Amino acid sequence: MAAESEAGRPAALRAMTGRFPAVRPRRLRRNAAMRRFVRAPGLEPRQLVLPLFYKEGLTAPNPVAAMPGVYQHDLASLRRQAAAARAAGLGGVMLFAVPAHRDATGSAALDPAGALTVAVREVRAEVGDDLLVMADVCLDEFTDHGHCGVLGDDGEVDNDTTVALYAEMAVVLADAGVDVAAPSGMMDGQVGVIRAALDDAGHSTVAILAYTAKYASAFYGPFRDAVESALCGDRLSYQQDPGGALREAVRETRLDVAEGADFVMVKPALPYLDVLQAVAEVSEVPVLAYQVSGEYAQVEAAAERGWLDRRSTILETLAAIHRAGADAVLTYWALEVADWLRTPEP
Ligand code: PBG
Repeated sequence: MAAESEAGRPAALRAMTGRFPAVRPRRLRRNAAMRRFVRAPGLEPRQLVLPLFYKEGLTAPNPVAAMPGVYQHDLASLRRQAAAARAAGLGGVMLFAVPAHRDATGSAALDPAGALTVAVREVRAEVGDDLLVMADVCLDEFTDHGHCGVLGDDGEVDNDTTVALYAEMAVVLADAGVDVAAPSGMMDGQVGVIRAALDDAGHSTVAILAYTAKYASAFYGPFRDAVESALCGDRLSYQQDPGGALREAVRETRLDVAEGADFVMVKPALPYLDVLQAVAEVSEVPVLAYQVSGEYAQVEAAAERGWLDRRSTILETLAAIHRAGADAVLTYWALEVADWLRTPEP
C-alpha cells in the first residue's frame, strides 16, 4: 500500500523526498577557495601589451578626452611609461605616433627621423631587451585623409602601392630597433611583402604581428581623438565588414600565417569573441586580441557615472577575451590590470 502511494506521487514531489537535485553544480562555486581551485587559467602580466601614443613636439603629457586615463606622451613621459611597463612585467608596448606633419601619402612614416621611429628608439634605449617594443605599421596617423594607405585615382586605397610603403616603413622601424612590426591596414599581401623586405634588409629576427581580422569598426572612435586623425569616409573596402561571415576571418588567418606572420590578431576584441575563437582554432601561431579604444571608453564612461563597477567589469572583459582564445591582449588598462593581478581581490 505504501509502495503504491509512493509510485503514485508526482515526479517532482518524489524527487524532493529522495535525492533532489541529483547533480549540484553549485558545489564547485561554494566559496572562494573552491572557485579559485576550479577557475580557468587567467591572463598574466606577461600576456598584456600596453599601447602608447607619442606626439611629436609635446613637452608634457596631454590627456586624451575620449579616453580618460590615457595620454599623448612627450618623450620623457613615454620613457617613464615604458619603464613602468617593464617593471610591471608586461609583455610589451605597442607604439603609435602623432606626427607634426601629415600629407596625402603619409610621407613622414618613412622618415628615419620621424615621430614613430624616434619613439621606438627612445623606448628601446629605456627598456633594453627586457620588454618587447612593437610598432604600428600603417599610414593612417600620417595621411591627411586618415586612410590606412595612399589613394588611387578612383579615390580607393591603392593596395599594392600601399603595401610597398608599409614594407619601407617596417624596415625604417626595424633599423630603429623594433622587435615586432604590426601591419594594421588589412592590405592584401602586406605580411609577405613586409617579411621579404625585412629579410632583405638584414632584419630576419624582427617579428610580424598581423592585424589579421580587423573590422571596419565604430569602436575605434576614441582612438581618432588620441591620434588627432579625421577619417574621410569609411574603410569598408579594405577592412572587414562588421557583419561579415566567420569564414572571412578564417581565410585571412590562413593567408597571414602562410605569408609568414609570427602572430595573428583580432580587433576589436569583446564584440568579436566568436571571431577570436574561430581564429584561435585554425591558427598555428599565437593569437592576440586588441581591446580597442571604444571598448575602453564605454567601460570608463559607465564606471564614471557609477553604472558599472570598474575593476570587476575590466577583469571580466579580459577573462572573456582570454577564454575565447587570446594568448595575449593589447589593452589600455595593461598597467593597472597587471597591478590587480599581483594583489588579491579586495
Ligand atoms: C591603425 C590602428 C588603429 C588602431 C590600431 N591601429 C586605428 C584605426 O584603425 O582606426 C585602433 C586602436 C583603438 O581603437 O584603440 N593605425
